[in-house]
Amino acid sequence: MEGTKLQYHYMELLKGLIDERAAALGRSLTFCVTTFGCQMNARDSEKLAGILTFIGMEKSESENADLVIYNTCTVRENANLKVYGRLGGLNGYKKSNPDMIIALCGCMMQEKEVVEKIRTSYPFVDLVFGTHNLYRFAELLYACLTRTDKKPYISIETSDTAIVEELPLDRTYSFKSGVNIMFGCDNFCSYCIVPYVRGREKSRESADIINEIQTLCDSGVKEVMLLGQNVNSYGKGLSEDITFAGLLKKVAGVSGIERIRFMTSHPKDLSDEIIEVMAGEKKICSHMHLPLQSGSDRLLSDMNRHYTRERFLDLCDSLRSAMPDISITTDIIVGYPGETEEDFRETMDVVERVRFDSAFTFLYSKRSNTPAARRTDQVDEATAKERFVRLLSRVRAIGEEQAMRFVGTDQVVLVEQINKQDPSLVTGRMDNNSVVHLKGDESMIGRLVPVVLKECKGFYYFGETL
Ligand code: 5AD
Ligand code: SF4
Repeated sequence: MEGTKLQYHYMELLKGLIDERAAALGRSLTFCVTTFGCQMNARDSEKLAGILTFIGMEKSESENADLVIYNTCTVRENANLKVYGRLGGLNGYKKSNPDMIIALCGCMMQEKEVVEKIRTSYPFVDLVFGTHNLYRFAELLYACLTRTDKKPYISIETSDTAIVEELPLDRTYSFKSGVNIMFGCDNFCSYCIVPYVRGREKSRESADIINEIQTLCDSGVKEVMLLGQNVNSYGKGLSEDITFAGLLKKVAGVSGIERIRFMTSHPKDLSDEIIEVMAGEKKICSHMHLPLQSGSDRLLSDMNRHYTRERFLDLCDSLRSAMPDISITTDIIVGYPGETEEDFRETMDVVERVRFDSAFTFLYSKRSNTPAARRTDQVDEATAKERFVRLLSRVRAIGEEQAMRFVGTDQVVLVEQINKQDPSLVTGRMDNNSVVHLKGDESMIGRLVPVVLKECKGFYYFGETL
């Protein structure tokens, strides 16, 4: 038995085990999947929840559940610290429910030192698996539940992710969904751990992607987010001759699709063709998340980014001349090894020139085994923090100024939920991903509603239905 079929076989076995346990307890068994990190992890968590629902477990918002999974991130050190910090709390729950299963998966588990630390310092963890064998979750959970000792059941693979199609999914939203178009990353930016924990870049066949999106749209999905570490290089290594621009065109042709987003783009691979397709196809949202990382050519080269500040500025100009309303957002790292005040000023200068709609700013975090971590000229913490504060304050101020330009305009909002603070309002997102609140009720969730933006409160708007 191979791939999908084998996993369904284990799901059937698990169903039996879960039924037995539930009958003995006189209640259904609950699970909670907690996601750390990016959209890829959020999508992976939907896969885990899909399998658990399929085998008859009930989803719970509380981590005081019969099975808790932490789907971890390791892109920065504080992501790891968060997980260690919360494991103690889970052990507390386990003391009152000794049959509770604690599972850890995701990027952090692809690090040898982490697994060793779990083995020695957190022996109450039951199951550990990584990013490459997530598709084998049913099989691994079965092995864990039927093991004869109480030791953590650990299964980590280092070879690349196999692409296994058509496993169950438990989607967070009925009207929008992430869709993986590729896995892994080949770019080896000098500071980044992702290529080591997610493996080599591998695109999915376009027919599989389109089938998945068609099935989603048939079940009421209006918006998809195409996911990959570097979507702009989609198609590399596939036998079919296809680029990301070609894929975007195909996705726009799916019947029922209303909005297409994608994440993340790498400036080195953002082609004129992609910009042209975005500009020509209304269903593709006018939002580009384009990580800058640094505005200093010296650092960009050291980071192995393969573009210059000039090239980045040109790309932003091309995007804006093709789509005047486009929102451009970015990621910036402060305190990269060897960063001087001059380098930092260059970053600030790009921020002033591009005027990003918003930017995620990160303090450089040393990640083991990456080239940047081996450098001896690490920036001291106080200097990095001081620069970080300066950058954040400009990024915020510019973002607020940029947001003002849409006040008074008509927009279409995909309503996502009832507003948590004021239940007479609903909250949704406009085409460029900005958040809008408007009067409404539950019946509007999942609908595309035309609104006029009345007021801007920094990063979000109040709108009125047209
Ligand atoms: N330190 C700080 N930020 C990092 N990122 C990736 N690696 C690191 C690191 N070692 C940031 C980059 C990337 C985003 C997802 O995380 O800006 O675009
Ligand atoms: Fe990390 Fe660079 Fe790959 Fe993004 S493109 S995941 S920053 S190595």
